[in-house]
Amino acid sequence: MRSQQVPFNDLSRGMSRDRESFLEAAAAVLDSGYAIHGSQHAAFEAELADYLGAGAAVGVASGTDALELAIKAVMPADRDTVITAANAGAYTSTATVRAGFVPRYADVDPTSLCLTAETVLDRLTDHVGVVVVTHLYGFLGDAAALRELCDERGIALVEDCAQAIGASRAGRFAGTFGHAATASFYPTKNLGAVGDGGAVITETAITADRVRRLRQYGWESKYLATLSGGTNSRLDELQAAFLRIRLRSLDEQNARRREILERYRAAAADLDPQLLTVLPATDSGHIAHLAIARSARRDQVRASLGAAGVPTDVHFPHPDWEQPAFERFAPDVDLPATVAACAEVLSLPLFPELTDDEVDAVCAAIGALA
Ligand SMILES: Cc1ncc(COP(=O)(O)O)c(C=O)c1O
Repeated sequence: MRSQQVPFNDLSRGMSRDRESFLEAAAAVLDSGYAIHGSQHAAFEAELADYLGAGAAVGVASGTDALELAIKAVMPADRDTVITAANAGAYTSTATVRAGFVPRYADVDPTSLCLTAETVLDRLTDHVGVVVVTHLYGFLGDAAALRELCDERGIALVEDCAQAIGASRAGRFAGTFGHAATASFYPTKNLGAVGDGGAVITETAITADRVRRLRQYGWESKYLATLSGGTNSRLDELQAAFLRIRLRSLDEQNARRREILERYRAAAADLDPQLLTVLPATDSGHIAHLAIARSARRDQVRASLGAAGVPTDVHFPHPDWEQPAFERFAPDVDLPATVAACAEVLSLPLFPELTDDEVDAVCAAIGALA
C-alpha cells in the first residue's frame, strides 16, 4: 500500500529554514550597492579557503566554468589532453571541449567508482597534461596517490569537488590535494546557493591569479586583457552572501546526510546484494552527496520503490562517450567498471531536510524489496 510520497529532493525546506538569514543578507547586499565582486564575494572566497585550509578560492559562475577555467589555468603549454572518468555526468568532458582540449577516458575503480592512480596509469600518453578526478557522490578517493603519479610526470591534477565539499581525511579536505580543485554551488549540492555558482580552489598564487584573469575577460587590469581564453564567469554578491550562511552549517548538514545514508544501508543489509547494495559513507571522507545503490535488476527495483512512494534517479546512466556529443572521444579499450556502473547505479532520496518519518518510509520500501 502506498502510504506516503517521499520527495526525491525539496529545496523549499532548506530555503524556508534559512529564510530569515537570507533576507537579512539580501538586505545587506542591496544596501551595499554592490551586485558583483563586492565585500560578500571577497568574504566568501576567504571563508571557503579558510574552511578548506587552501591557499585561495576564486568564485566563478558555475561548477562547469570552474572546471573549464581550472583546466585552462593548469594545462602545460605543450599538451592538450585531459584524463577523466566517463561515469560522472560529462561535466569534465563539457569543460574540456570548451577549453579547446581533448577528453580521454580512464576506467574507474569498481568499488569506489572513481579514478585511482592504478586506473589512470595505463591511459597516460605524452599528450596528457591534466587528470581530473571527480570525487563522485561525495567520496574523497585516491587523491594523494594520483597527485604523486601526476607530479612524477609533469601532469596537473584537478579535483572536481562539486559533490565533495567538506569531505576530509585525517583533517585534510577534498580540494587540497590537486594543483587545483573545483566546486559547484548548484542548489542541490551539499553547499548549495539559490542559483548557479562555483569556485576554483588552489594552493598556488599563480593558478589563482590566472583563474582570476580568465573569469573576467583575461583582464590583468580593467580593459587590459593579458590572457587569451578569458570569459565572463562571476559569482554574484547575493549568492556569495547566501553561501557564507550555508558554509557555517555545512558540517552539520553533511553529518545528517551520512546518518540517513547509513540507515538506508542498514535497511538493505539482509537483501541479496545483486538485488540492492547501498554504497557506504561511514566517515568524514564521504559527505553523502547522493545515496547510491547498485542493482543488477535496476528497472525492477526502481519500479517497486516508485510504487511504494519512493522516487529514484540515476546518476549517471550513459558513459560520456555513448552520448552523441562526445562519441568522437570513444576509447579504443574497454572500460568495464564504467559501463557496469552506468548500468547498475540508482539514487535514493537524500537531502538533509528529509524527516525521520520519510527516512523510515524509504527504509521500509527497501526492506520490502526482499
Ligand atoms: C561532479 C560534478 N561536476 C561538475 C558539475 C557541474 O556543476 P554546475 O552545474 O554548477 O555547472 C556537477 C553538477 O552539476 C557535478 O555533479
